[in-house]
Amino acid sequence: MNRNFAFRSLLVIAVTAGVGMIPTAHAQGMMDGGMMMGGGMMGSRGNAAPAPGNGTADTGQALFQSHCAMCHTVAAGAGDRFGPNLHGLFGRKAGTGPSFSYSTAMRESGVVWNGTTLDHFLADPAKIIPGNRMPFAGLKDGADRQALVTYLERATR
Ligand code: HEC
Repeated sequence: MNRNFAFRSLLVIAVTAGVGMIPTAHAQGMMDGGMMMGGGMMGSRGNAAPAPGNGTADTGQALFQSHCAMCHTVAAGAGDRFGPNLHGLFGRKAGTGPSFSYSTAMRESGVVWNGTTLDHFLADPAKIIPGNRMPFAGLKDGADRQALVTYLERATR
């Protein structure tokens, strides 16, 4: 009886020790997974693997992460940050996202978002829509803007 109890205790200790190791291995795996997702902003779209040779979109995604992601999300239902969630952006009138409190300037701009209007806006937001409240100086490099817009078109769909 006693030996049996001791054996069980050992088992419990062994299992506890084993469990203790799992979160470490798991966290490692999650970190690797996160890197492969390129930041994970597209998690809800399932297929996050970029198509082969899709370098422009990758550049665009990196630009979004470094210049926009602190204020914007792209996935459906991901919520507003300092700026509005950008899901469903293309073809939508500026300032008409479902839950964000936009400036009057943005709402009354008359702009409809597409590749061209986004390219102009992102080059110099304050000039294209005067009085809007997006505190972003602009992305001056045309190739960068093109990459970013290409990414947005895919990621906000
Ligand atoms: C510091 C925060 C901040 C950063 C950085 C930022 N934005 Fe914004 N953005 C905003 C805010 C706030 C608004 C709403 C402005 C208003 O209502 O006048 C906005 C509005 C927008 C809109 C209009 C959305 C709509 O529904 O009409 C687009 C498109 C946009 N941002 C794209 C971008 C992109 C792309 C980047 C990165 C290059 C970026 N923003 C960087 C805060 C930010």
